[in-house]
Amino acid sequence: MQHGKFITLEGGEGTGKTTQIQNLHSYLTRLGIDCIVTREPGGTAEAEKIRNLLVQRDGGDWDPLSEALLLFAARREHLVKKIWPAMQKGKWVISDRFVDSSRVYQGLAQGLGETVIEGLYYMIAGEFEPDLTFIMDINPEEGLRRSGKQNQMSLDLNESTEDRYERLGLGFHEKVRDGFLHIAKTHPKRCVIIDADQTPDAIFDQMSDVLQIKFGLKKAVKSGAV
Ligand code: TYD
Repeated sequence: MQHGKFITLEGGEGTGKTTQIQNLHSYLTRLGIDCIVTREPGGTAEAEKIRNLLVQRDGGDWDPLSEALLLFAARREHLVKKIWPAMQKGKWVISDRFVDSSRVYQGLAQGLGETVIEGLYYMIAGEFEPDLTFIMDINPEEGLRRSGKQNQMSLDLNESTEDRYERLGLGFHEKVRDGFLHIAKTHPKRCVIIDADQTPDAIFDQMSDVLQIKFGLKKAVKSGAV
């Protein structure tokens, strides 16, 4: 049986990844492709427990290396128990974030550096990489505004308390944006930058062009459609 593909969506806050993941899932399903949606940190029962330690507002004040080790423990669980078994069954896996988020948030913005992140990644995943990564790009000020988390007050009023990273300030999120653009430049075969400051339909149209070129899939007529 042919292995399934692994597609990741990456980017800063408020880039509309969730909407596009839903579009992607329904588009692939309509083409008869068996696919699952998952996310990081998380994706399995154990990894979701680790997620709660990290993304919650009161998640704690982790030493950056400890934080990275937790993220990579969660990722190992995710790979071994969910991503690889699904791909071996021929399923396509779509993940909301993956190792590029660690490269950018921990490696670059939190300053752990490339050697640490690549070493950890090699230990848990070897040479494995996504088949395709969409880097959803938006000005961080606009992204934080869209996610409704642009300032302390709106963060405090927001219903979701999964905002530990959003609280790190604009300078941090500017580094995150630059980091993702750098990854796209250094991994041109795998990564495609998508301008996330467009309507959801226009964004998905661009993404479906990429799927057509990369995997020979039929073009979506309009958002989510085949
Ligand atoms: P999430 O709710 O997925 O954020 P978003 O809605 O912006 O995708 O929360 C995940 C947060 O975790 C996000 O702020 C980025 C951060 N993160 C890391 O710092 N490193 C990682 O390796 C991963 C996967 C996520």
